[in-house]
Amino acid sequence: SNAPRKRVILSGIQPTGVPHLGNYFGALSNWVKLQREASADDELLFTIVGWHALTLPQDPKVLATARTDMLAFLLAIGLSPQKSIIFHQDHNPCHTELAWILNCLTPFGKLKRMTTWKARLADSRNANDESEVDESLLNAGLFTYPILQAADILVYRATHVPVGDDQTQHLELSRDIAQIFNQTFKNRLFPLPQQLNTPTKRILSLKDPSSKMSKSAPDTQSRILLTDTPAQIRAKIRGAVTDSIQGITYDPVARPGTANLLAILAACTNEDVTAVAERYRDKRHGDLKAGVVDAVEGVVRGPREEFERIRKEEGYLALVATEGAEKARALAEVTMRDVRKLVGL
Ligand code: ADP
Ligand code: NA
Repeated sequence: SNAPRKRVILSGIQPTGVPHLGNYFGALSNWVKLQREASADDELLFTIVGWHALTLPQDPKVLATARTDMLAFLLAIGLSPQKSIIFHQDHNPCHTELAWILNCLTPFGKLKRMTTWKARLADSRNANDESEVDESLLNAGLFTYPILQAADILVYRATHVPVGDDQTQHLELSRDIAQIFNQTFKNRLFPLPQQLNTPTKRILSLKDPSSKMSKSAPDTQSRILLTDTPAQIRAKIRGAVTDSIQGITYDPVARPGTANLLAILAACTNEDVTAVAERYRDKRHGDLKAGVVDAVEGVVRGPREEFERIRKEEGYLALVATEGAEKARALAEVTMRDVRKLVGL
């Protein structure tokens, strides 16, 4: 029939600490928007990818807490277990089962051409440059995690994946692997997942606007967390690097710090950045910063208060995780029954 195939949308986030404004505007707020705009036919899956977190060294206690924190944040920002399947990746063994099968189908050379593992390693070491990265720190998991990512997507036969440009290469690999599987077993089991382009709002460090806002930067004043109090937000924005040029203009090249503050304000108020710049044209940096403080607090307040409330409800969080995992496993099992049969297991 010509009926459009229903969309299956999947996205994941690592359980690595309290999300910052970059995570919020670069990924999480898009998830909420997707959920709001989804049609009744769409299937939405949002997963906390604990297995991916293990590709870098983790303190087990910290990781265990971070997993539950992230679940609470997903609910606090407005994702709903009634509308989306929200679950821990590691609650569904079908991901690793499929990943193994895909490992055995993926040419080694294809994987070697992936560049993101180097960036991830550099980032985790706070290296300035990928060439500073010591390859002896590369474990096999970090090398093959793009295949686990392909499995995360394909196990639900996802059709759409909302990811930033930094993940385009991985999504291409997922499509390649889907095609290899389909060709090898002469079956069209896996749809080729498409990148769902969501507005990419890149938020920069408040202290060094030549780099993005990141959880791993040593200066904690460089990022705003979704748990920050009004006083913390005020102090961080006041301390943000700007410039000594009079008046406010949006010029990311010549005035990256000022441009970043304008971009943050625009993201918070959902305005065009040039409109915000126009509004502040004859004002001073102090006025702009005051505006940014208010706008950021306006965005952070809801998630912060909801997180504080919901994080204490351990029983409820466990129930959400269990129910999410059951739904995810049921969907994945449908795929895996076909996969096992096709490969001869
Ligand atoms: P971090 O850089 O803090 O380690 P991750 O690499 O875990 O963050 O990214 C989690 C998600 O948040 C990804 O989708 C990523 O593209 C997005 N993201 C991270 N930092 C930013 C940023 N500064 N601006 C926009 N999006 C970001
Ligand atoms: Na990072």
